[in-house]
Amino acid sequence: MIQLDVSNATGFLPEDWLTSRTERLEQARGWLENGSGAGGSFTGWVHLPRDYDKEEFARIRCAAKKIQSDSQALVVVGIGGSYLGARAVIELLKSPNYNLKKKDTPDIFFAGNGLSTDALLEIIDLVKDRDFSVNVISKSGTTTEPAVAFRIFKNLLEEKYGKEEARRRIYATTDAHKGALKGLADSEGYETFVVPDAVGGRYSVLTAVGLLPIAVAGIDLEKLMEGAAQAMEALSVPGMDNPAWQYAAARHALYTLGKRTEILVGYEPAFRFFAEWWKQLYGESEGKDGKGLFPASVEFTADLHSMGQYIQQGERLMFESVVRFAESLGSFTIPHDPDNVDGLNFLSGKPLSFVAEQAMRGTLLAHVDGGVPNLVIQAARRDEHTVGELIYFFEYSCGLSGYLLEVNPFDQPGVEAYKKNMYALLGKPGYEAQKAELEARLGH
Ligand code: PA5
Repeated sequence: MIQLDVSNATGFLPEDWLTSRTERLEQARGWLENGSGAGGSFTGWVHLPRDYDKEEFARIRCAAKKIQSDSQALVVVGIGGSYLGARAVIELLKSPNYNLKKKDTPDIFFAGNGLSTDALLEIIDLVKDRDFSVNVISKSGTTTEPAVAFRIFKNLLEEKYGKEEARRRIYATTDAHKGALKGLADSEGYETFVVPDAVGGRYSVLTAVGLLPIAVAGIDLEKLMEGAAQAMEALSVPGMDNPAWQYAAARHALYTLGKRTEILVGYEPAFRFFAEWWKQLYGESEGKDGKGLFPASVEFTADLHSMGQYIQQGERLMFESVVRFAESLGSFTIPHDPDNVDGLNFLSGKPLSFVAEQAMRGTLLAHVDGGVPNLVIQAARRDEHTVGELIYFFEYSCGLSGYLLEVNPFDQPGVEAYKKNMYALLGKPGYEAQKAELEARLGH
């Protein structure tokens, strides 16, 4: 099970950093368990690893098998919580180079997560001459970015295979009852999967939203859910040795002391998109009412040669949360060089993981000396079980943390502001007054 090492942060924290928060953590725990706190109708993810829809789970696995058998590529169309979780898990468990690897599962491309013409054209180019399927994911069914991309890939499929076969290659993950995508899926006869009402986008990776693309990549869903279920059991137990309580309390205490940025540190390139998922989870859950830690991320040791300077000596605004996997998946031994031209023979015969470990330990102490508290999240290895645990650990801690901060961790009203302006500027019917006002402000 995930453990948290706070020993490199306690020097910065008051002695009662945890005890002074246990009463509020106990209350937050109750709110999460019963859905009785702010945003309580969006706590369906809390018991999901145990109560997930087993019939749909079986359908996800069947659909994944079909896609694996009839497609060389899957295009996943979605944005925000409707794509980050799947990409995070696929990259962490398979590789950021998944598509380049020799494998018997389809390539996976993520589209509709922005409005870049060039990115879209590139994916079209990469799939158009291959057999492909599309998984369109949108809870609301009305989000502009995926809706635009879906129009394009739907047309592409229909031109390539005809309407009948195209509809067999389109999988829609959306609300069970409402929304434009649900209406379209029903009228066209696409196979549909559900984003449960009580689960918001950023907490949805363990629903069909994440699970279908993850299964297509050949990842063992049972083991992923088992890991999450084990974390659910462990983290529901109240107490000061609960790592989610410790993490939520430590980050809240550091925030109270003036730390304004939390940097999630990974030492694996495969962790990069997991950090993107984490940033959305914490950024959208806590960044509101003028409050919240700014979630940032770095990849060490690469970023020690860039952001490392700022972390060591810039504004003392941040702390780090380091995710440490105890074991590498493979091993590599540093070769001996008879000429020792680089002077590195003192490392000959040592595993690279030993060097990485010393880099991690040295960095930790240097940053602590530089005034940057470090929390270390200890995970076993990059496998399905551990990643399931990590997902649940971060989700549960985020719920607790949001309640400690006295915000609703399950809404995201701020996301609407840009949408309203964009709709107005695009001339969406009903936004005429705003359009004139915004254009006057923009000067044309
Ligand atoms: O966490 C969230 O709610 C958002 O990031 C949404 O997931 C994102 O805006 C996509 O929304 P939808 O699934 O409705 O298209």
